Amino acid sequence: MKPIQVGLMGLGTVGAGVFHVLSRNQEEIQRRAGRGIELTMVSRRNLDAARDIVGDRVRIVADAREIIANPDIDIVVELIGGYGIARDLVLEAIAAGKHVVTANKALLAVHGSEIFAAARAQGVMVAFEAAVAGGIPIIKALREGLTANRIEWIAGIINGTTNFILSEMRDKGLDFDVVLKEAQRLGYAEADPTFDIEGVDAAHKATLMSALAFGIPVQFDRAHIEGITKLSATDIRYAEQLGYRIKLLGIAKRQAEGIELRVHPTLVPSKRLIANVEGAMNAVMVQGDAVGTTLYYGKGAGSEPTASAVVADLVDIARLATADPDHRVPHLAFQPDSLASTPI
Ligand code: HSE
Repeated sequence: MKPIQVGLMGLGTVGAGVFHVLSRNQEEIQRRAGRGIELTMVSRRNLDAARDIVGDRVRIVADAREIIANPDIDIVVELIGGYGIARDLVLEAIAAGKHVVTANKALLAVHGSEIFAAARAQGVMVAFEAAVAGGIPIIKALREGLTANRIEWIAGIINGTTNFILSEMRDKGLDFDVVLKEAQRLGYAEADPTFDIEGVDAAHKATLMSALAFGIPVQFDRAHIEGITKLSATDIRYAEQLGYRIKLLGIAKRQAEGIELRVHPTLVPSKRLIANVEGAMNAVMVQGDAVGTTLYYGKGAGSEPTASAVVADLVDIARLATADPDHRVPHLAFQPDSLASTPI
């Protein structure tokens, strides 16, 4: 069968990871997808920088719209970030009949309803495993593995930058600003780190998980958000003395009056597994009525961990598109029909 052709918009840290994972694991990926997955086009304004990553094997363009205009491209991967140009490009790609894979939690948390409705109208998929908790397959867990359950609550460390900052402040007594700079250097932080430290990035991710878990609309504007900027080393030390660690948690919980969605620093008893999630690692706990409590742990940011999730979505879409029923998997796209208007 003809390989599925992928165009990648925004060849940065994660984009480079996607290129490397697809190249390195080509054979396994083809076997699992039932057909080849070929990255044939990438866009980046700095063409030389792009060539340094992908060499001459991939067509490089400065204008991402050239990818959308190419009729041979089946799937567009959006790794530009933000809600400006990324929103326009994703909607244009959908209108052109392309499936979309994105790591853009901000875009989906704020414009998800519009984007999923457009995808449904066009009969294409929008997949976003990489948008929440990087390499941890939490979207697939919520959509597939836990699909038999009534989800009661989700609580997670879903921002690596803030967890890294809190860990380093506690372990090494370093100042907030010093650790933030290190998180930026290591590539964990957002382009605008305010989103990390003010809890906005975690709220974007909690919004997406709650929509899937509770079948509610994507309603980022209803989340209560509090970051870590008001925390001092003294707060962290006192918490430690009382037997707690301070963690920035994203929490979505079923309540009698609707779904509660919040992000804030939380005192977690030091003996709990989640209290011992250190550095830029992420962890998500999900409570289901049948399964009980489950815990998912792994790298929530970085080039190849995030690429792992992007490529998993490419494989899912390739499987669905293949004629071989053995390779089909259910629930590949967000299910817009499940969007009841439960208040938050
Ligand atoms: N800035 C994010 C984090 C990147 O620190 O978790 C991954 O979404």
